[in-house]
Amino acid sequence: MIVFAIESSCDETAAAVVRDQSEVLSSVVSSQIDTHKKFGGVVPEVASRLHVENISEVISQAIDQSGLGWDDIDLISVTQGPGLIGCLHVGVQAAKTLAMLYDKPLVGVNHLAGHIYANKLDTTLKFPLLALLVSGGNSELIYMKDETSFEILGETMDDAIGEAYDKVARVLDLGYPGGPKIDKLARAGKPVYSLPRPKAPGEYDFSFSGLKSGVLQFVKRMERQNQTWAVEDLAASFQETALEEIFTKVRKAIENHPELKQMIVGGGVSANSRLREKVKELAERYPQMEFNVPPMSCCTDNAAMIAIAGEIAYTNGCKADESLSADASLDLEDANQPA
Ligand code: KG4
Repeated sequence: MIVFAIESSCDETAAAVVRDQSEVLSSVVSSQIDTHKKFGGVVPEVASRLHVENISEVISQAIDQSGLGWDDIDLISVTQGPGLIGCLHVGVQAAKTLAMLYDKPLVGVNHLAGHIYANKLDTTLKFPLLALLVSGGNSELIYMKDETSFEILGETMDDAIGEAYDKVARVLDLGYPGGPKIDKLARAGKPVYSLPRPKAPGEYDFSFSGLKSGVLQFVKRMERQNQTWAVEDLAASFQETALEEIFTKVRKAIENHPELKQMIVGGGVSANSRLREKVKELAERYPQMEFNVPPMSCCTDNAAMIAIAGEIAYTNGCKADESLSADASLDLEDANQPA
């Protein structure tokens, strides 16, 4: 099956053509980071407008670079949600137009399912598996007994981890996106400062907003007391506390589910060098399981992962028509369930 896919849930306008969930014939990503940098974060209205401006060109490039024509496309897949509603609408309207124009079947898919299936571009998924999704908009721990079912074990109660990185970077005046900058600084520092340990109610849930406020209070206290402090050490202290919040829950999930065969990671924060080290540590501690952190091109938002998610949903009986609408809070547990 050859799938044409569109992704526009946040600040990347993307389109791709993928054959049989594995062969990426084209994958075009137009990032808006340079524009949002000026505002210190993604501005939803600006993001939607840029999607409108860019989407036609991104679609044309994806089809041209695939070397195929519209006659060769078997299915059109689009991110229906979750994400920024104005941004999602642009992709959904474009996909509906293409489906109508070229008389193709259409399917709307879950962005988070896409991040999970992106691992298929890098490894063979083995079930039951544990998926850790860490991005600017999501932090979730998911149990999959097979390829089509998602059970959310835990999720963030407040900020997503990437959002916490970005907000802390703003406090430290490092610019947007903050994740890569904190990651780099932390490599030169030591986690010597004590910051508030997050407290989430559920066994596998996360919380980052208290930690983020803790960084702000630390900086204000130091300034008030005229004390010097090292930004590298503060970055390392924040990063170690935030990642330990995640990995404590990951270890607990692995211990409580001895049947797990694999753990995979998805989302922009999986680029983090310390997170990757921590996954290696897990692999040593639990040799009975396989661990996979895909290359960055698969971790950040792209449409190739939406093509894979589309083929899986469609094969499972999901199909959309012209009534398909964007859903900013689309539930992952409903993915792959025909209406
Ligand atoms: O998945 P993504 O590209 O976009 C969505 O949120 O959908 O993730 C972007 C997030 C940003 O918050 C960014 O700061 C974070 O991923 N990020 C990182 C790193 N690279 C990107 N966070 C920590 N360490 C990194 N190296």
